[in-house]
Amino acid sequence: MGLLIHVLLIVMITQSLVIASGTDLADVAVLSALKISWQNLPPNWIGSDPCGSGWDGINCTNSRVTSIALQGLNVKGTEFGDIPSLSELQYLDLSNNRGLKGTLPPSIGNLKNLSHLILVGCSFFGPIPESIGSLQNLVLLSLNNNSFSGPIPHSIGNLFKLFRLDLNDNKLSGILPVSSGNLSGLDMLVNARHLHLGTNQLSGAIPPQLFSSKLKVIHVVLDNNQLTGSIPQTLGYVKTLLVVRLDSNLLSGTVPQNLNNLANLSQLYLSNNNLTGPLPNLTGLNFLDYVDMSNNSFSPTDVPSWFTTLGSLMTLLMERTQIRGEIPVDLFSSPHLETVVLSNNQLNGSFDIGTSYSDNLRLVDLQNNSITNLVQITRNDTELILTGNPICDRIEATPGYCGVQKINFSNTIPSNNCTPVVCSSDKILSPRCNCSDPYTGTLHFIYFSFSNDNSSHFEFLTGFLMSVFQLNQLPIDSILLSNPPIDINFYRQFTLQVFPSGQDSFNRTAVSAIGTLLNSQPRQVISYYGPFYFTDETYSLFGGAKKSSNTGIIIGAAVGGSVLVLLLLFVGVYAFQQKRRAKRALVQSNPLASWDPKTSGSIPDLKGARWFSFEELKKCTDNFSEATGIGSGGYGKVYRGTLANGQLVAIKRAQQGSLQGDQEFKTEIELLSRIHHKNVVSLVGFCYDKGEEMLVYEYIPNGTLLESLSGKSGIRMDGMRRLRVALDSARGLAYMHELADPPIIHRDVKSNNILLDQHLIAKIADFGLSKPIKDSGKGYITTQVKGTMGYMDPEYYMTEQLTEKSDVYSFGIVLLELITGRRPIERGRHIVREVKEAMDKSNYPNNLREILDDSIGWGTSLVCLEKFLDLAMSCVNDSADNRPKMGEVVREIENIIELASLDPNSEPAFSSSSFDYSGGFVPFHVEGH
Ligand SMILES: *[C@@H]1O[C@H](CO)[C@@H](O)[C@H](O)[C@H]1NC(C)=O
Ligand SMILES: *[C@@H]1O[C@H](CO)[C@@H](O)[C@H](O)[C@H]1NC(C)=O
Ligand SMILES: *[C@@H]1O[C@H](CO)[C@@H](O)[C@H](O)[C@H]1NC(C)=O
Ligand SMILES: *[C@@H]1O[C@H](CO)[C@@H](O)[C@H](O)[C@H]1NC(C)=O
Ligand SMILES: *[C@@H]1O[C@H](CO)[C@@H](O)[C@H](O)[C@H]1NC(C)=O
Ligand SMILES: *[C@@H]1O[C@H](CO)[C@@H](O)[C@H](O)[C@H]1NC(C)=O
Repeated sequence: MGLLIHVLLIVMITQSLVIASGTDLADVAVLSALKISWQNLPPNWIGSDPCGSGWDGINCTNSRVTSIALQGLNVKGTEFGDIPSLSELQYLDLSNNRGLKGTLPPSIGNLKNLSHLILVGCSFFGPIPESIGSLQNLVLLSLNNNSFSGPIPHSIGNLFKLFRLDLNDNKLSGILPVSSGNLSGLDMLVNARHLHLGTNQLSGAIPPQLFSSKLKVIHVVLDNNQLTGSIPQTLGYVKTLLVVRLDSNLLSGTVPQNLNNLANLSQLYLSNNNLTGPLPNLTGLNFLDYVDMSNNSFSPTDVPSWFTTLGSLMTLLMERTQIRGEIPVDLFSSPHLETVVLSNNQLNGSFDIGTSYSDNLRLVDLQNNSITNLVQITRNDTELILTGNPICDRIEATPGYCGVQKINFSNTIPSNNCTPVVCSSDKILSPRCNCSDPYTGTLHFIYFSFSNDNSSHFEFLTGFLMSVFQLNQLPIDSILLSNPPIDINFYRQFTLQVFPSGQDSFNRTAVSAIGTLLNSQPRQVISYYGPFYFTDETYSLFGGAKKSSNTGIIIGAAVGGSVLVLLLLFVGVYAFQQKRRAKRALVQSNPLASWDPKTSGSIPDLKGARWFSFEELKKCTDNFSEATGIGSGGYGKVYRGTLANGQLVAIKRAQQGSLQGDQEFKTEIELLSRIHHKNVVSLVGFCYDKGEEMLVYEYIPNGTLLESLSGKSGIRMDGMRRLRVALDSARGLAYMHELADPPIIHRDVKSNNILLDQHLIAKIADFGLSKPIKDSGKGYITTQVKGTMGYMDPEYYMTEQLTEKSDVYSFGIVLLELITGRRPIERGRHIVREVKEAMDKSNYPNNLREILDDSIGWGTSLVCLEKFLDLAMSCVNDSADNRPKMGEVVREIENIIELASLDPNSEPAFSSSSFDYSGGFVPFHVEGH
């Protein structure tokens, strides 16, 4: 056989020499060899010019093969072939070919240009070769759902560019490798955002060294392994974490108390371990929406106080956690709450769910506790289970709560306005009443933020997926999602059927593209539902079985135009918080009928922001009356409003034909809805209705920094107050640059975009020009120059390359404003030049007062002021490379404030910002210099 291949190869190579191939000969040889050893490759793999004659699944650059994508084609083979010889290969996706077996050869390390290695749902086995660490350009390594075994190689730590490590659902064993001596380890993956190692056979303790404040990881997924020992304290240092899954291991010991440092954490899975000691105190984790600590050995405790303080909570699973006492009624008023399971504890006394509990609450499971009394019956859409409590022994007990039956929620939405037809036995009726042959598979969600079967979640997910397909121009008629069972490992699974449009089946290109797209993890879906991977059922055309019934399917979305997708999508977003009103909204108006994805780019990707109707905002601003106006600018006006729940908001209403285009509007809502920081103004929602564009922000009562500096607002801005404003706003920007996901460049930092709240805490506002930094690896984005004269980074202005250092420049100008009290440009002269000239004089720093805003008493020592000025000047350095990062700016301001507070001579000015004294100017203490 080997000889035969060899001979054939030589024949082919010779042939191609004769034909003068447009493809590199060595590459032709590799693909031709695959043609012999693999079955079911696309039928157009003929001839000897893969690049020139467009072999399906092959892309080339300059006659070299750069990409192979053969997803879901039922390709079979027992070896990986000589793919490692395709030295220019950048992209390799062989996912969902169950018939592909064999081991990964060590020579895979030769693929130096490879950025994506995606082998989801094949049958590869054996160890992951140590040479994987040579793939220095690898960004995505996705080997989910194979049979890889043996240890995770230390060398993975060398993959400096790795963004996502997906090894879930294999047979990997051994310990979690960390660096030591010459060996690298997972602790070195400082650019990785996702570490997914769940459902393997990993063992040993979780090394404390694995976690550090250097990591930027957002998902740590280690569930369903055999990890032992305690949870390391170092986990609490990884401030970027959003999701921690450590469930179903053999972990013991107490949970580190510093977990509540993880301010952004939204999901915490610790269930099914043998954790002991007190329950962790989750107070302050205000973004937590999913908490599962069931089945551990915690010591008996009273109901923890954080039960009632976590405002984002959707799912609380605390089965067998030894909690005792009475359940606080406030738990159920958390507005997003969907599921509460507190079974098998020692809860006692009365159970009171309250009269106005969460609209979304579907299940309260209190089985096997000691509850004796029921204060309030539940709505008919909320299931309450009290079986196994003393109350059920009483004759008058409401039997509905003491049985084991479950309410069967029907989530079928009315089918679309089409007339069902009868399909032949080998075809299936699509939601748009076409008979065709769908491509079917399973979405495995590694975590899933929702816990009930609320149909709006399905509508939403369906709409998202459909819009992702449409944006990629795939020939898709409609999709169907099936009711999600939770699998044994608590992974949410959905069956997905994708129906073709225009013809009754998909061709190879389309099937491959659908799977590739899904396994490349569309960002919109991930940020709502969590990461997932897609495995398929072999498509009928490529040899899979035909299916002919739609059992288990609960919802479909037929989507003709993108408007309907968007409609579904936005009703979904809205419904997520306001389900009942959403139904009305659906009837009343189409919230985004005029959103045109062609001109406005893709669908906005919102986290938690609400949609408001025009009527609603009109009402809360008294018909946009003059009296509620609080500001105006080129874009339109800002109004103050009071929402129905009493919350004060600022409503920014764009005037007709305003400067902010659809794209900028979208940018602002997308970015704002994802950032949560005390020094950044938060978005409450938006309105895109009746031709209006409005953004609804939290109301910040004390106006802009510019107003305060110009004395308009009447707020005293003494030296210490100025330092604090500088610190607050620097923190807000540092968060945006270094912790937001994705990092964001503000692009319009200025004193007019810094607001002061009731405690005079500064917050960064106005994101109309902001840009997320994509993972291009370049560190800059090329963009049309925008911003405000006087604040604009000259280097950005000249090169059009935007980096975070452009914000640092603008922030430096704000610092100079704080120091000098002058506008960036006055009488045609730029503030930087003015200050530089003063600093160049021979009597500097004694002439410092020439520069200072002398309308205030600085009350701060000269040393501090000089440091503050030096910092400002380093921020406005001509060369971006020489400017500090925002994180460094924060630390320097902290130092200056500390120094200033230690200075006894400056006492009066910083003791209290409201402390006013006559005379206005207190000379600062001049020290020998
Ligand atoms: C291959 O090329 C086609 C057409 O240019 C493009 O649509 C597709 O995205 C490319 N595939 C990959 C994996 O780069
Ligand atoms: C592949 O990598 C080499 C060296 O790392 C580089 O010179 C070459 O340009 C890369 N090829 C492509 C297509 O990027
Ligand atoms: C859990 O830990 C406790 C205390 O360390 C120990 O006594 C018990 O045997 C452990 N249980 C299991 C199932 O390992
Ligand atoms: C939990 O932490 C909060 C804030 O740190 C604190 O106020 C509270 O007393 C703690 N609760 C317990 C039970 O330790
Ligand atoms: C549940 O109650 C609502 C009104 O509160 C009623 O309209 C609805 O028909 C009830 N549903 C069931 C299944 O009883
Ligand atoms: C596959 O289908 C797509 C869309 O229907 C079409 O554009 C493409 O030409 C087809 N490819 C082949 C090889 O038929």
